[in-house]
Amino acid sequence: MTIRIGMIGCGKIARHHAAGYQAAADLAKVVVCCDEWSIELAQQMADSLGGADAVDNWQAVIERDDVDAVSICMPHFQHSEIALAAARAGKHILVEKPMAMNLAESRAIVEAADAAGRLVMVGQNQRFMTDHQHIKQLIDDGVIGRVVAVRFDCNQFLKKMYAEGSWMFSKDKTGGGMVICTAVHKLDLLRHFFGEIRQVAAYTGHTGLNYGMDNEDIAAMIVEFENGIIGEGFYLFAAHKVPIPTATSELTIIYGEEGMIHNIMGWHVYSTKVAEYSGGDTNISLPVEPYVNSVIYEIRHFLECIRDDVQPLTSGRDNLGTMAAIDAIYRSAERREMVNLADVW
Ligand SMILES: NC(=O)c1ccc[n+]([C@@H]2O[C@H](COP(=O)([O-])OP(=O)(O)OC[C@H]3O[C@@H](n4cnc5c(N)ncnc54)[C@H](O)[C@@H]3O)[C@@H](O)[C@H]2O)c1
Repeated sequence: MTIRIGMIGCGKIARHHAAGYQAAADLAKVVVCCDEWSIELAQQMADSLGGADAVDNWQAVIERDDVDAVSICMPHFQHSEIALAAARAGKHILVEKPMAMNLAESRAIVEAADAAGRLVMVGQNQRFMTDHQHIKQLIDDGVIGRVVAVRFDCNQFLKKMYAEGSWMFSKDKTGGGMVICTAVHKLDLLRHFFGEIRQVAAYTGHTGLNYGMDNEDIAAMIVEFENGIIGEGFYLFAAHKVPIPTATSELTIIYGEEGMIHNIMGWHVYSTKVAEYSGGDTNISLPVEPYVNSVIYEIRHFLECIRDDVQPLTSGRDNLGTMAAIDAIYRSAERREMVNLADVW
């Protein structure tokens, strides 16, 4: 079985998707690449994938009978329009994070895919990082006992990553800044680790250091999970350096009743109950894989789910919990009050 793929968007993350499809040549073949802004980018990607077609409008991808599934690697404001059309055209969908601009748009995508009997998966690649999978296993095995708290942060500088004028600096094209663009990764991963989020409190603001960015480039949040775990997150899109070096530029500290796990200078475990980790802060030497690998694993999972007709780990339906948290964080920051997720559903 060869699953025929249409690439929609040929920018930064699309190159990782393309690498994923190349690595999964036993399951899939990219037949068309689309970039609305630069046909040259589409042509380059098509050529690199062994002679796919290149087009400059996404409708031309989903109209094709020889496309079974699409990878949507576009600015956020276009996710729902393209995903809805793709579902109605009977295509399976892999859409980059965030699934859409908000929960309402995301829910509509899930309903459209369900009605069409097609899969929708969200590119939450952090769940596919092998170090994260290892850490989840340690938590599930009870190595640090009952988890009580988690701290997480991210340090990036947006204007060093995207050119002036990019859609990334505009709220009407992104739906928001640091929260929906980046915190979405950890919120989703932590839901995978710890279950659903009950309520949030958040602050968002602007440093003025990212051109005329009108979406937030700084955010702080408190997250309470349904099982009582308290999380504290800090996100900055104006950080020159990562003050606490981590492989991903994202700090994660997980506090348990009987130990802790953190990723400062590599993943470390301390446990009062597992002899192997009881001597101190043990570096567990997990290999640091290139970022692209997580996308390669994600793409393979997407294809295997289509082949086997099973729901993906990062299904659209699962992702509604992540998008609800995003909506709640923005509501909390706007109203300056705690927001219960039950009130945004
Ligand atoms: N999983 C990850 O780690 C990760 C990393 C980066 C981006 N992403 C996500 O991937 C998606 C695409 O991001 P990217 O970094 O590849 O973006 P990009 O700007 O590099 O490419 C996006 C695509 O949109 C086109 N485009 C550029 N400006 C546009 C505009 N103003 N209006 C419409 N289209 C425009 C580009 O030509 C390209 O096809 C987003 O959803 C983003 O959040 C995910």
